[in-house]
Amino acid sequence: DIEASLRPKTLEEYIGQEKVKENLTVFIEAAKRRGEALDHCLLYGPPGLGKTTLSGIIANEMNVNIRITSGPAVEKPGDLAALLTNLSENDILFIDEIHRLPRTVEEVLYPAMEDYALDIIIGKGPSARSIRIDLPKFTLIGATTRAGQLTSPLRDRFGVMMRLELYTPEELSQIILRSAAILEIPCDREGAVELARRSRGTPRIANRFLKRVRDFAQVIGDGTITKELAALALDKLEVDPLGLDSIDRRMLRTIIRNYNGGPVGLDTLAAAIGEESITLEDVYEPYLMQIGFLSRTPRGRCATQRAYDHLGIPRAGTEKNAE
Ligand code: ADE
Repeated sequence: DIEASLRPKTLEEYIGQEKVKENLTVFIEAAKRRGEALDHCLLYGPPGLGKTTLSGIIANEMNVNIRITSGPAVEKPGDLAALLTNLSENDILFIDEIHRLPRTVEEVLYPAMEDYALDIIIGKGPSARSIRIDLPKFTLIGATTRAGQLTSPLRDRFGVMMRLELYTPEELSQIILRSAAILEIPCDREGAVELARRSRGTPRIANRFLKRVRDFAQVIGDGTITKELAALALDKLEVDPLGLDSIDRRMLRTIIRNYNGGPVGLDTLAAAIGEESITLEDVYEPYLMQIGFLSRTPRGRCATQRAYDHLGIPRAGTEKNAE
C-alpha cells in the first residue's frame, strides 16, 4: 500500500514536531523501563499533520499492537467493550476524531481509562445487576482537531496531551524528498522547496501534491520535478505561490468585499461562501492565521493588510488617487 509506505515507522524517521518527539521519546523510554503501558495520550491539532502516523510509531517503539478506530465508528457501549476486551497487555487503542464519540460510549470509557475495568449492566428491571470486567492495562491514544470540544471528564483522563503544529517549509521539503525517494519520483531540491511552500504546512497535502505534480512532470516535462515544473503544475491546480486554494481565496475576498475586511462571524462567513463552519475552522483557518492573513477577534474574523496585498485588493480609503 503506497500511503502506508510513506508513513515513517520510527521516531527517528519522523520529520518535524521536534518538541513532541523529544517528550515522547522520554515517556516511551520510561514506560518501557517500568514494563508498563504508556499513559493515555491526546494528540490534537489541524488535520493531516500525522496524528495517526505518530500513533503507529508509538506502538512500534513500545513493541505493542495498535487497534485503530474512530469516534463515529464506535456507536454503542458494546462496540467499545468488544474493542477493549480484545486487547493484550500494554496494547494501544487509537480513536481518531475522539470528540465525536457518543456520550453513552464516553461514559463506559471513563472507568476503562482510569481503572482498566468495564462496568456492564446485565438483565432488565428488578433482576438487573452490574458486573465488572477487568481489562488488560492499555493505552488510549485519542486524536482530535478540536481539543476544546472534548468534555472535561474525558480530557482530564489523558496523562499526556500533545499539540501538533503546522510544519515549516524546510521540514516539508525534507518530507517531500523522503517521499519522492520512496516513490522513486525524480525531484530536485528546488522542486521540493516549491512544493513545500505551497503545501500549507501539511504533510498530507505535500504528499498529495507530489503525486499530482509527478503527473505533469511526466506528461509536460522530462519526468523530473523542478522548481519551474512544480510551479507550473500547482498553478494549473489553482494553488497559488503561498498554497492558497480557491476556498482560501474566496474566504478572504468575501471578508474583504462583503464585510469590509471584517470582523465577520464564522457562521455568517461560512454561509456566505457555502462551506461548513467546522471545515473553515479546522481546515482553512489554521494556515491563514499562521501566515498572518487572518485574525480572530472576539467580534469575528478579519482579513489583515497582508491578505489585501496578496490578493492585490487596495484597502478602501487608502487608494492614492485624486491628486
Ligand atoms: N510523512 C508524513 N508525515 C511525515 C513526517 N512527519 N515525517 C516523515 N514522513 C512523513
